[in-house]
Amino acid sequence: MTEYVTVTSDAPDARTGAIKLHGPAAFEGMMKAGRLAAETLDMIVPHMVPGVTTAEIDRLIYDFVTAAGAVPATLGYRGYTHSVCISINHVVCHGIPSEKTLKSGDIVNVDVTPLLDGWHGDTSRMYLVGDVPIKARRLVEVTYECLMLGIEQAKPGNRMGDVAHAIQRHAEKHRYGVVRDFCGHGVGRLFHDAPEVVHVGKPGTGPELRPGMIFTIEPMINIGRPDVKLLDDGWTAVTRDRSLSAQFEHSIGITETGCDIFTLSPKGYTQPPYG
Ligand code: MF3
Ligand code: CO
Ligand code: CO
Repeated sequence: MTEYVTVTSDAPDARTGAIKLHGPAAFEGMMKAGRLAAETLDMIVPHMVPGVTTAEIDRLIYDFVTAAGAVPATLGYRGYTHSVCISINHVVCHGIPSEKTLKSGDIVNVDVTPLLDGWHGDTSRMYLVGDVPIKARRLVEVTYECLMLGIEQAKPGNRMGDVAHAIQRHAEKHRYGVVRDFCGHGVGRLFHDAPEVVHVGKPGTGPELRPGMIFTIEPMINIGRPDVKLLDDGWTAVTRDRSLSAQFEHSIGITETGCDIFTLSPKGYTQPPYG
């Protein structure tokens, strides 16, 4: 049985497995953290060009987030030592910043989570570096559509399976593979909380969506098979068949009538090309 608990205190809450139903203070906190996260992704746009190292992007993000009075939640998270995950081409997620340079034709996911006043704003977008072949651009476009179709289903009365199904249906219509090994998640004072937000499923199944729930939706879509493997660094997940992978992520909160998206770009950036 799915358990729900109404959050009444302001104290950091524990991971109990129950789905938290948050109040207005949480929505305000998430709106601020989410906005900073989105501003961070806006800020790097002019830097996502051939020749830049992913370590340079990591540094820019560290400086931007800390100047805003926040800390990158990934820094020190389960032994992760960077401010951002940067996942290039066949890397599905959790790519580690390094001295590797971006090159023309790359498609790149940048995933940030500033922790501001105790709230986690978790969001990622894709970037196109230089000239990107149409096949890769199409994957990025369809992955963005998958996220937004999932968000459209995020409203009271619907179930998690409705969100998942909308994503899976759209991806598979284009013969893409939806990654099973990583999910969206409850988010708030905790980085990763209940519920698990899967991206494949059947309509009318899974936990019911209730006002006050706060979680991410973050589909990872592959041109090829859904299967991933983990590299020896213990973090980097890549497609088993080495096909290209794309991902977008928003943090959202269920309202009485639908949902608030906390991580919308103040510049109006949605999918690339930006600006
Ligand atoms: N931001 C990722 C997510 O969407 C989590 C990254 S955890 C890290 O949930 F340790 F890999 F950074
Ligand atoms: Co997330
Ligand atoms: Co994220």
